[in-house]
Amino acid sequence: MMLTDTHTHMDASAFEEDRDEAIQRAWDAGVTRIVNIGFNRETIPTTMALAEKYDFVYAAVGWHPQDAKDMLPEDLEWIEELCKHPKVVAIGEIGLDYYWDTSPKDVQDRVFREQIRLARRIGKPIIIHNRDAHQDTLKILKEENAAEVGGIMHSFSGSWETAKECLDMNFYLSFGGPITFKNAKQPKEIVAQVPLDRLLIETDAPYLTPHPFRGKRNETGYVRLVAETAAEIRGLSLEELAQITTDNANRLFGFK
Ligand code: NI
Repeated sequence: MMLTDTHTHMDASAFEEDRDEAIQRAWDAGVTRIVNIGFNRETIPTTMALAEKYDFVYAAVGWHPQDAKDMLPEDLEWIEELCKHPKVVAIGEIGLDYYWDTSPKDVQDRVFREQIRLARRIGKPIIIHNRDAHQDTLKILKEENAAEVGGIMHSFSGSWETAKECLDMNFYLSFGGPITFKNAKQPKEIVAQVPLDRLLIETDAPYLTPHPFRGKRNETGYVRLVAETAAEIRGLSLEELAQITTDNANRLFGFK
């Protein structure tokens, strides 16, 4: 079986004590590709280090909306330079976060647009973080013609209306732990409806831990629990769901 976790943070300090063991557990659970996300000045270097250490770990680099106010022009140049690295497969996570609201909205808007423009210039897909900002996220993606590069709506939590707009713009929808929660009616409905060739799975570890480990630390191997739930919703075997989502990730990221 080949599972791909398209969004994880295994470099996080939550894994200080057992990072190598946790990555080995993922491999043992059938996870054959991991995209680790570096999203600010601290996590980009630790993400690159993991991608260099493990053959099956790849990197996405970008500037998170929560840290938007700290992004300097040289940081954007740094991201552009890192994108030449053979294991950097996407720019992300980028987008808007109106929940934490730690950077002013106009600054989030500018930093998001600058990174979409960079992605189009160099031809890399983008990984979108959108929290409580569906309208503005869609507006910016449209205005900046993000459809040209496409990418992933990470931990998708919107309505079917929003989902359709994202699909029309060439985006894949990625789902994590929340689809395993009993009360997760809407995400389960979207998983049931999304075209199979646009479905991806992820963990967002150490956050968003799936059932039955909810409340504990998440780790990338638990993407198998997400896959099991998605397979059940779609009436597929775990192996079929793993293959479909891995094929999708291969196509998007250009994995051979
Ligand atoms: Ni994340």
